Amino acid sequence: MAFSIFAGMRPEDFNQLAARRRSTYPAQYTGDSVPDEIVEQLLENANLAPTHKRTEPWRFVVFCGEGRKRLAELQASVYRQVTMADGTYREERYRNLLAKPMESSHIILVYMKRDPQRSVPEVEETGAVFCAIENMYLTAAAYGIGCYLSTGGVTYFKEANRAFGLEAHDRIIGFFHVGMPKTALPPTARGPVREKTRWVRQ
Ligand SMILES: Cc1cc2nc3c(=O)[nH]c(=O)nc-3n(C[C@H](O)[C@H](O)[C@H](O)COP(=O)(O)O)c2cc1C
Repeated sequence: MAFSIFAGMRPEDFNQLAARRRSTYPAQYTGDSVPDEIVEQLLENANLAPTHKRTEPWRFVVFCGEGRKRLAELQASVYRQVTMADGTYREERYRNLLAKPMESSHIILVYMKRDPQRSVPEVEETGAVFCAIENMYLTAAAYGIGCYLSTGGVTYFKEANRAFGLEAHDRIIGFFHVGMPKTALPPTARGPVREKTRWVRQ
């Protein structure tokens, strides 16, 4: 006998939600603001992600309104500083990093703070942060809000930590963009799960 988690939500509803979760990109946003209350709910649900030894390694910095300009300037200047030094600087990329954040309503910098006791391996805390991100994706789908995780820009630039006020050993996981979608997207598509699964029955 299975117990329903709570009255009113059928398992099929969740199956629909999982299928409707999509990555929606800034070009697909209307430019309107998403209410802060919805973004707060994304974060509340992120905070419910599974976490081995309850280390709760997820951390967030929310950029919205004029704060998006601050993000733009910070990431563009980190990009310029690093790429000027190693000779890979491209003016077009720099301008893109300066302009892009304004196309989203909110951008959530997601990073990982490791448990000081190192009570679980790093891969488990990284996994927990990605579970938190999936909760944000699903919550956005439930509210009909567009979102996507970006691991581009300065995600993997270690110099970004200081620019964003993080400690040296914190790890940026990505930038979660949120915006009002112009239209609903079709359900997501994947190759058959049976090709990725082996069942052992005996
Ligand atoms: C770890 C991770 C990193 C991602 N980074 C990017 C990215 O940098 N740029 C991007 O356009 N999409 C990024 N995505 C979103 C994927 O492109 C997207 O999930 C994929 O196209 C499948 O689409 P769907 O999410 O709508 O099912 C990322 C997704 C994950 C899980």
